[in-house]
Amino acid sequence: MIRSVITGCAGHLPERVLTNAELADMVDTSDEWITARTGIKQRHIAAEGETTSDLAVGAARKAMDAAGVDASDIDLIIVATATPDHTFPATATTVQSRLGVRKGAAFDIQAVCSGFIYGLATADNFLKAGQFRRALLIGAETFSRILDWDDRTTCVLFGDGAGAVVLEGQQGAGGNGDRGVLTTHIHADGRHHDLLYVDGGPSKTQTVGHLRMSGKEVFRHAVTNLSAVIHEALDATGMQPGDIDWVVPHQANKRILDGTARKFGLDAAKVVVTVDQHGNTSAASVPLALSAAVADGRIRRGDVLLLEAMGGGFTWGSALVRW
Ligand code: UT7
Repeated sequence: MIRSVITGCAGHLPERVLTNAELADMVDTSDEWITARTGIKQRHIAAEGETTSDLAVGAARKAMDAAGVDASDIDLIIVATATPDHTFPATATTVQSRLGVRKGAAFDIQAVCSGFIYGLATADNFLKAGQFRRALLIGAETFSRILDWDDRTTCVLFGDGAGAVVLEGQQGAGGNGDRGVLTTHIHADGRHHDLLYVDGGPSKTQTVGHLRMSGKEVFRHAVTNLSAVIHEALDATGMQPGDIDWVVPHQANKRILDGTARKFGLDAAKVVVTVDQHGNTSAASVPLALSAAVADGRIRRGDVLLLEAMGGGFTWGSALVRW
């Protein structure tokens, strides 16, 4: 069978760093509160005029270099984002044009913080079906543009950034020993729209709007849904928690990461954590964390990775990947 093997990955962050101390000058908060409740110490914020596609292109170029491919090798581009440059066309088509890719398909996926997992499932199925051969999957966000900077319950949590992977269809034996994506699982439950949403949009308000979240409720659902979808990935492959070398989770809150690891009896040292440095970058957080752990040599060829995320919608998902 064909397996979708990740042949390169990279992240790209805006230069500007916004610290907790600076936020404490803007709203009624403190470094102590943010650190204790979330684990976040700082986040990156896009410069004026710096767009989601700018960050996406930055990550994509580095991921393509890492994979040793050029524009003529890519035939599918997926950008997972909830903060596109424009209502339409898809940010993926802007990325396609700027990278000089001239064939295949390019489209956006909107599953908010689960966008990268949704994109991975989508790309994997296209590659396994043989419809495309090399996919560029990017999670890219400029959440700073949809934050209410007067709302301390949300503005301290999010940041901007992008992460990208190149996926290539390669022949595998069909077992857990194969390199590449071993299994993906994605879910949605639209009944929870009001717990995490943006209060604007082209059709409803003709405005961009601001992010609104009932944090405590989202936290509760995140712990339950992530646990269920991790079990699902393990059941589908017959793997055990002990087979996982690295957990590469969506980075919303250090407490969620710790709690999930504890639930599966996983050593906290096996969980890749970037939320302290990046905050919650929505669809960019999983590929940014992946890139960080690949770049510093923690993730090595043959390692089994568990990717998972949960976000607005609600949407959630997981994947097992052998590096
Ligand atoms: O990426 C998509 C998925 N998103 C998530 O998974 C996020 C899930 N939720 C969370 O991570 C947490 O619920 C938060 C970090 C958002 C909030 O933490 P919490 O422990 O649930 O705090 P809380 O909302 O219950 O607020 C506790 C107190 C409140 O004050 P009172 O009512 O107890 O007097 C808040 O008003 O903390 C107050 N508070 C703050 N204080 C200082 C809320 N935000 C802040 C703040 N600084 N920034």
